[in-house]
Amino acid sequence: MNEGIVKILGIESSCDDTAAAVTRNQLLLSTVIAGQQVHKDYGGVVPELASRAHQQNIVPVVDAALKKAGIKKEELNAIAFTRGPGLMGSLLVGTSFAKAMSMALNIPLIEINHLQAHILAHFIESPGEPYRCPSFPFLCLTVSGGHTQIVMVKAYNDMEIIGQTHDDAAGEAFDKAAKIMGLPYPGGPLVDKFAKEGNPLAFKFPEPKIPGLDFSFSGLKTSFLYLIRDEVAKNESFIAERKLDLCASFQKCVIDVLMHKLKMATKSTGIKEIAIAGGVSANSGLRAVLKDSAEELGWNIYIPKMEYCTDNAAMIAIAGYFKYLNKDFASIDAIPLARYTF
Ligand code: KG4
Ligand code: ZN
Repeated sequence: MNEGIVKILGIESSCDDTAAAVTRNQLLLSTVIAGQQVHKDYGGVVPELASRAHQQNIVPVVDAALKKAGIKKEELNAIAFTRGPGLMGSLLVGTSFAKAMSMALNIPLIEINHLQAHILAHFIESPGEPYRCPSFPFLCLTVSGGHTQIVMVKAYNDMEIIGQTHDDAAGEAFDKAAKIMGLPYPGGPLVDKFAKEGNPLAFKFPEPKIPGLDFSFSGLKTSFLYLIRDEVAKNESFIAERKLDLCASFQKCVIDVLMHKLKMATKSTGIKEIAIAGGVSANSGLRAVLKDSAEELGWNIYIPKMEYCTDNAAMIAIAGYFKYLNKDFASIDAIPLARYTF
């Protein structure tokens, strides 16, 4: 085996995407994702259906990732898997598969915190593309369907949460607003699309009053719901007529809240290396506002490639690589953690 070359298989199954990826050191060799269409009609992920779909998809997805990477499973140095946070039934599929494969190949097993992996996605080297990554310490705004956090990242394996949501996550707020308007799950990308053509100042929503660097989005969701309820009572076609403005105004409010807290965090820490991560970092409005703030405030900003924003296994493999270097291996009796803080 070539010393200094580390090939890792990453496996992600925390929510509704079954994903596998292979890295050689920081270079991404392959990434494969099987999404799940079964949840579309339910307005959210149905845990039972998600576990079943993972069970169906995991073998072909891992197989495809190895084939695309052009490597045999015997060449792998370790298997990294998402231990949590996430849906227990979904996590169990990836965890059990990873354990079985590491035992069969007699190679180390590495457990990964999904949220730390979202942050470490910034260190993925994509073939043929320039590599640019944040320097330590940096701040990362992690905004996904399940979490909203500001994290101080001191090293690959040393992170501290300095702010987080008390209730809904930013992605969840997007999805719930979309559901109220009758849009399918996940609503975030659709709200983003419609917002581009709407007036962000058409409707006003109260900014939550949460002290420090923490967030709250449940009040915003409720005031959005009440606005729609009251207006639809007067005019049945209100949603259809004002969908673009509703999306633009709602999105602006979420972005204002996120940016307000991020600015506070850079002030209180003095850190100007700023990254974003997680599904909502794919939002075009957030990306644009972040770029403006960077110019105005002299921040260096790091925005992941779209495909590394939402759930994927490339980020699990890269997180596994840094743990591999520290020989930070998991025990074979590691259990998945639906809640997994750091
Ligand atoms: O990180 P992710 O793929 O899964 C979790 O770990 O939660 O994030 C999914 C979330 C969903 O709530 C989805 O609506 C949201 O990210 N999302 C977006 C956009 N793309 C995905 N929200 C707003 N604008 C987008 N373009
Ligand atoms: Zn995620």
